Amino acid sequence: MSAYKVIDHVYDVVVVGAGGSGLRATMGAAEKGLKTACVTKVFPTRSHTVAAQGGIAASLGNMGPDHWTWHMYDTVKGSDWLGDQDAIEYLCREAPAAVYELEHAGLPFSRTDEGKIYQRAFGGMTQNMGEGPAAQRTCAAADRTGHAMLHTLYQQSLKYDADFFIEYFALDLIMEDGVCRGLVALNMDDGSIHRYRAQAVVLATGGYGRCYFSATSAHTCTGDGNAMVLRAGLPLQDMEFVQFHPTGIYGAGVLITEGARGEGGYLTNASGERFMERYAPSAKDLASRDVVSRSMAMEIREGRGVGEHKDHIFLHLDHIDPKILHERLPGISETAKIFAGVDLTRQPIPVTPTVHYNMGGIPTNYHGEVVTLKDGEPDSVVPGLFAVGEAACVSVHGANRLGSNSLIDLVVFGRAAGLRLAEVIKPGANQAQLGKDAAELALARLDKFRHAEGSLPTAQIREEMQRTMQADCAVFRTERTLAEGVEKIDAVYRKMADVRVSDRSLIWNSDLVETLELDNMLGQAAVTMHCAANRKESRGAHMHEDFPNRDDKNWMKHTIAWFDGWGGKGGGVKIDYRPVHAYTLTDEIDYIKPKARVY
Ligand code: FUM
Repeated sequence: MSAYKVIDHVYDVVVVGAGGSGLRATMGAAEKGLKTACVTKVFPTRSHTVAAQGGIAASLGNMGPDHWTWHMYDTVKGSDWLGDQDAIEYLCREAPAAVYELEHAGLPFSRTDEGKIYQRAFGGMTQNMGEGPAAQRTCAAADRTGHAMLHTLYQQSLKYDADFFIEYFALDLIMEDGVCRGLVALNMDDGSIHRYRAQAVVLATGGYGRCYFSATSAHTCTGDGNAMVLRAGLPLQDMEFVQFHPTGIYGAGVLITEGARGEGGYLTNASGERFMERYAPSAKDLASRDVVSRSMAMEIREGRGVGEHKDHIFLHLDHIDPKILHERLPGISETAKIFAGVDLTRQPIPVTPTVHYNMGGIPTNYHGEVVTLKDGEPDSVVPGLFAVGEAACVSVHGANRLGSNSLIDLVVFGRAAGLRLAEVIKPGANQAQLGKDAAELALARLDKFRHAEGSLPTAQIREEMQRTMQADCAVFRTERTLAEGVEKIDAVYRKMADVRVSDRSLIWNSDLVETLELDNMLGQAAVTMHCAANRKESRGAHMHEDFPNRDDKNWMKHTIAWFDGWGGKGGGVKIDYRPVHAYTLTDEIDYIKPKARVY
């Protein structure tokens, strides 16, 4: 591959991705004196964290009683008991300190009259170990919390001695004998190839929402890190659990924050009924997301949807004081106008469940170290490889994430990874040379797609993948839809053997980059579909109508899946399991035993 100009770099740590978790990990590593690079395909403040709206969960207790153990209880219940309780304890315990750290870094939180951080109610967040009323636990900067957080983190990260490689597309990990030794990336601006030798690589590459046709995720959410892990011969975990946010704007898919319901908004069907009272008599519109999305889908299915095609639901905010809407929900006031053409002070917003978050991802422990099943050991650490944020499956969200637990996951585990890196890595330690062919696999794949001369444009294959996922791996799943989905997604993957890339250049070749992203997504789509077909129970976001109950005896376990269908082969998904951590981190809280999950 001598046609490519390869530039070598040596770092202690390379972080891939500059969203909330990537920036926090970059800061953490640099702060400890580790020579750190952050490689990102978009400018940091354009990372998808910027789109997070409603807030970040932490038991500050500013708006009423709260405690980290209550937050933990809700998160375990929200996860439908698939979350690892040691990691959940870590998350909820560390959350208040992480929020104060952001406050001190300058995040412009909304304030109470006393000047404390404003907190709103979010789905599934309760007081007193699920026994009490809703807890106002979600710290907010109006409805632009992710925007405020990302800008704060980027500003802070500039004060550390970290190097940013911006608009570089990560191609592949460099693995030698099961150890991660670095990364290969393409500088999209000038086509140069960059080979990073590092003691550790941290994947903070986000989710893969764009595998679906309608998603709140940015077009950049293609799960590139997840795909690199699969190509490295490592498994992904719990990929069957895909979260549908109840309130994406009908038709556009743009997010309307759960904070809207936290501020008193409610959903109605065609007869104006507040139907959530039937499905979740206690929490109603503030039940957890999987429950609300399913209830909406059920209303639509039974002919009670609104609109000409009876295929969506109304979200009402028109009863709330316009001053409050202006102060607390200015962002969605604007997006409702632009994308749905409604003035939410007077009209309901048309909404529908929309793909929003991937609970599954790269399996890690609570230090951010990537783990795998090796020689019968389920928590075997992969040396040199870390993952944080939505790319990772720690697993704190299990089968269903609670709203506002994502932003807190980013900073708590971004920081945890920085702390662990400082423990396991010596700044400037000597690193063995890489093998001469260390970039060859990545370059061969790049070159193959760059010169792909098939008959199918990337956009056509992508749309087939997205429509297959949307139709067959949706809110409700059955044996029939999943079996069909497996066949269809494998067939779509095989079309990659006939893909056509028209632009052969290396300067801002978006045709090529989108094809590499599509290849990345197809691997994940295949794994998601196969894992969904494999799990014969219903849990959290995985609602299998032929197995409508949770089956703790047989299925309280993490799915892990490898993919070997690259190169247009398709299929090749191998499945195994890791046990759920049924223990806590300390004896300050006992293991929270499974019970029926009602809201
Ligand atoms: O609804 C929202 O504001 C989204 C929050 C989240 O996914 O955590």
